[in-house]
Amino acid sequence: MASAADSYPKKILEYMEGFFVSKTVFTACELGVFDVLLGAQRPLSAAEVSQAVGASLDGTQRLLAACTGLELLEAHQDDGQVLYSNTEQASVYLTRSNPSSLFQSIQYNSKTIYLCWHYLTDAVREGTNQYEKAFGVSSKDLFRALYRSDEEMVKFMQMMNSIWNICGRDVVTAFDLSPFKVICDLGGCSGALAKQCTSAYPECTVMIFDLPKVVHTSKKHFMSEADQRISFCQGDFFKDSLPEADLYLLARVLHDWTDDHCIELLSRVYKACKPGGAVLLVEALLREDGSGPLTVQLYSLNMLVQTEGRERTPAQYAALLAAAGFTRVRHRLTGKLYDAVLGHKEP
Ligand SMILES: C[S@@+](CC[C@H](N)C(=O)[O-])C[C@H]1O[C@@H](n2cnc3c(N)ncnc32)[C@H](O)[C@@H]1O
Repeated sequence: MASAADSYPKKILEYMEGFFVSKTVFTACELGVFDVLLGAQRPLSAAEVSQAVGASLDGTQRLLAACTGLELLEAHQDDGQVLYSNTEQASVYLTRSNPSSLFQSIQYNSKTIYLCWHYLTDAVREGTNQYEKAFGVSSKDLFRALYRSDEEMVKFMQMMNSIWNICGRDVVTAFDLSPFKVICDLGGCSGALAKQCTSAYPECTVMIFDLPKVVHTSKKHFMSEADQRISFCQGDFFKDSLPEADLYLLARVLHDWTDDHCIELLSRVYKACKPGGAVLLVEALLREDGSGPLTVQLYSLNMLVQTEGRERTPAQYAALLAAAGFTRVRHRLTGKLYDAVLGHKEP
């Protein structure tokens, strides 16, 4: 009988080279391979793609073959020639123009997060984020480091924006939020989740509260005439007074901060919240025993390498909410990337 040590270490080999997959997808997106194939409206040869994206023929042939192996492209034999087209998912999620595109998230992963992960060993050893090493900017003020230029800020906002096109509806409908008419989305960023709220709940209005330059950029780049029920308030949620509301949304905010900062922020929210109101946390939840899901365990490492926060279990969020005064805390899993935790302020 073969011992464990003799058996073929399939998983370990896959993990060792897992980044090959990410980099292949990043590169195909960056070069615009999926956009070119979408625009052509017919299958293209490697020579046609290489010309359109301005890359070597040999490199393009290998890239297209790998994307076919990853089931992002389909290869068709035509008169002894191989022609390529996008799979349905690649057309929707990997092209720039589709409203559900993950292109901006992929770009941010490629250009920013991947560089931070280069220093994961240091992050684990030191227990701190690696912004200074990766980008040469002090990480003392996390969002000053993240928004080190206007261009970086817009990229971050586009990345934050894109995920809610995929699973925003699920998090805002995990609980029935229809009793809450005035919603304040703290750290509401581009406004993608605010839009999901106004679409799911026709009677609510949403005020986005964020740092001044984020508010300015959101108004300029992410809002349209259709977003009549969305308004803005600029400020620092740790320092400035918070607008009064029935429901406060904190989506992917607490995972950026230490427990002490979270309690400080939630206590400010509790003070501003109308009696009978509530707070909805939108986060990726770890199982109570920390045994998964794997994606969330990896997200927690991502928080280590980039922020001062972590991913948490429902009980950990409930403890933070209770420390700030919220009661009747419940959570719902959506089955997608992000889940919801609701806490109440008694009437
Ligand atoms: C990780 S992002 C989450 C964005 C959005 N809620 C989402 O899920 O797409 C955190 C947000 O909090 C905002 N933020 C960070 N520090 C802040 C502060 N002190 N006051 C107000 N907003 C802040 C950031 O600008 C950013 O928009």
